[in-house]
Amino acid sequence: MVEVLVPSKVNLALLVGETDAQGYHRLGTVFQAVSLHDEVTVRATEPGVFRLAFRGEGSAFLPTDDTNLVTRAARLLAATYDVDAGVEVLVRKHIPVAGGMAGGSADAAATLVACNELWGLGLTVAELHPLAARLGSDVPFLLNGGTAIGAHRGDRLEPIPTAGSYHWVLALSHSGLSTPAVFREFDRLSPPRPTEVAPELLAALASGDVARVGALLTNDLAEAALSLQPDLAEVIRIGDQAGALGTVVSGSGPTIAFLCDGEELALRVADALRVSSRVRAVRRAVGPVPGARVI
Ligand code: C5P
Repeated sequence: MVEVLVPSKVNLALLVGETDAQGYHRLGTVFQAVSLHDEVTVRATEPGVFRLAFRGEGSAFLPTDDTNLVTRAARLLAATYDVDAGVEVLVRKHIPVAGGMAGGSADAAATLVACNELWGLGLTVAELHPLAARLGSDVPFLLNGGTAIGAHRGDRLEPIPTAGSYHWVLALSHSGLSTPAVFREFDRLSPPRPTEVAPELLAALASGDVARVGALLTNDLAEAALSLQPDLAEVIRIGDQAGALGTVVSGSGPTIAFLCDGEELALRVADALRVSSRVRAVRRAVGPVPGARVI
């Protein structure tokens, strides 16, 4: 048996450009891995059998058949390296489902790491990258963790130095948003934008100036996410009024991430959000943290 802990992510900047021939958008993004983790356990079973179960946060809504990214990750690794094995995967979920925090991608990244260990393949993170990119645009980042620029579809990564720690309050929504639907709404509402990440944001991260990072948080998908879930505007207002240093829609939403410079402010923002009927649940997390790793 092998157990892997995998973080979720927030996008500190998400800049959306032109679409390519496959309909994917060129992105300029800054990912940060945060300490809201899923746990993925794998056990050997009869060769050719791939079984999956979920427990916890949102697990009732997740498919457990071969369409799930977790099963696809295990099958892809086995097929690529000619492994004649079978595996049972259990995912204990804490990352919101369809929340814009890359929960599905995180579980797929964790499965690659766990099966690599279970099958004794000895592959490095760099060797797992091409498989991760085939599974989804966010999967490679969840292997790496930390803070990184993501270019192309978000899958070409460049780690960036940061100082300080970033305290996040995450407001979870009553219902999820589909990433393709949010990108379609973006296309309906706005023309493509430039995708170069602001040097000021990178400088603020390097010096650990959390207030400045907060002021520079940006997401081109925010307007589309708010168009699909108008109640999010009220959630943003509550966190801003409670004194958050910055606010951003996480990925394609609907989770809203509020940046704070320490526990005291984070607790105040969390308390303000918790009483709103528009917020299903509030989580706190810190970043940056490492990517998927065996525990
Ligand atoms: O790569 P992944 O399968 O996670 O992407 C999910 C969906 O998000 C894609 O099918 C596409 O609609 C949209 N997407 C996009 N441009 C990107 C990444 C994702 O349009 N760079």
